[in-house]
Amino acid sequence: KKGSYDHFMQKEIHEQPHSLTTTMRGRLKDGGILLGGLKEHLKTIRRSRRVVFIGCGTSYNAALAARPFVEELTGIPVTMEVASDLLDRQGPIYREDTAVLVSQSGETADTLLALDYALENGALCVGVTNTVGSTLSRRTHCGVHINAGCEIGVASTKAYTSQIVAMAMMALAIGSDQISTQARRDAIISGLSSLPRNVSEVLKLDVEMKDLASSLIDSESLLVFGRGYNYATALEGALKVKEVALMHSEGMLAGEMKHGPLALVDENLPIIVIATRDACFSKQQSVIQQLLSRKGRLIVMCSKGDASAVCRSGSCRVIEVPEVADCLQPVINIIPLQLLAYHLTVLRGFDVDQPRNLAKSVTTQ
Ligand code: UD1
Ligand code: F6R
Repeated sequence: KKGSYDHFMQKEIHEQPHSLTTTMRGRLKDGGILLGGLKEHLKTIRRSRRVVFIGCGTSYNAALAARPFVEELTGIPVTMEVASDLLDRQGPIYREDTAVLVSQSGETADTLLALDYALENGALCVGVTNTVGSTLSRRTHCGVHINAGCEIGVASTKAYTSQIVAMAMMALAIGSDQISTQARRDAIISGLSSLPRNVSEVLKLDVEMKDLASSLIDSESLLVFGRGYNYATALEGALKVKEVALMHSEGMLAGEMKHGPLALVDENLPIIVIATRDACFSKQQSVIQQLLSRKGRLIVMCSKGDASAVCRSGSCRVIEVPEVADCLQPVINIIPLQLLAYHLTVLRGFDVDQPRNLAKSVTTQ
């Protein structure tokens, strides 16, 4: 079933042009978005006072990647909840809320308990899952199947990118009654159509990521700085590295750098900075300058052609990725980090598809 690949994780990373195509199949219609599972509920969602995203691990990170564009395209405030933390706090959920529960398997215990809790509190509950017939799919009021195809590797890869795309379509559908954002929506829809092609393009970085991995094999730790649309990319990249390569890694909000993390910077600690083009670009340029002035060992991810704009001195290692619509950039940017985590794991001699102590579906609390 792995075909020409050595591992399921590798196969699933390289499958993403196809899995994203199936996520969108039949849903980009006549320049608009058709999500069969949501169309009867869009009015209720538009009237809600808040969207509450709920998930665990990678699914939480996908929701975090979706947060900025859901806020932008719908105008509804979005709050984020790690499922276990919502339950620990018994945080407030109201009838006027739309709870969006994100889970690849649809069987994660904490997410299902958070669903029960949101249902008890009267929220409209929307599922985003890869598994037709899963408990999440059955118990939510409505939802979207991401149709990424079965994911076998314990580390979630293709489900992450399909979750983001499914939530982009969801945001476009919810916001579709707003005339003032029509041009923006058209641009994003056109970005969605060309996304699989751009994903194929970024996958060509495979060899370069293997080479980068070989330079990091003996590192004890790896930091990833992101902000805006790509804060989630930083968290998710770091999660992949820690869970499969068994290397300590933290994703950090670049805007928080001066409030603590900067103390860690020296010439040894590798730091990935995500600085692709968007409204935060100039802020990331100054983050890079500040890290370089402290002799940071930088790996900068930037848009194609921006190598000298992000690192004039030439002292950073640069990963150039194709530029897509800003809010879809997280789908592109995570892929080199998935490849990096994969190669780092193989080079360090660990089990890629079955990381130590982890299970594909966490059905206990
Ligand atoms: C559906 C069909 C698809 C068909 C298409 C044709 C299924 C599973 N999907 O896709 O095979 O090609 O129509 O128009 O038969 N739902 C939840 N919670 C979730 C996820 C989904 O309640 O977490 C519900 C949806 O609200 C919907 C149903 O499940 O009622 C199917 O969802 P989805 O597969 O996303 O709908 P379509 O894309 O319309
Ligand atoms: C990371 C990973 C886990 C899952 C988490 C939620 O690669 O796979 O963090 O994302 O256990 O699982 P689902 O999405 O099935 O609810």
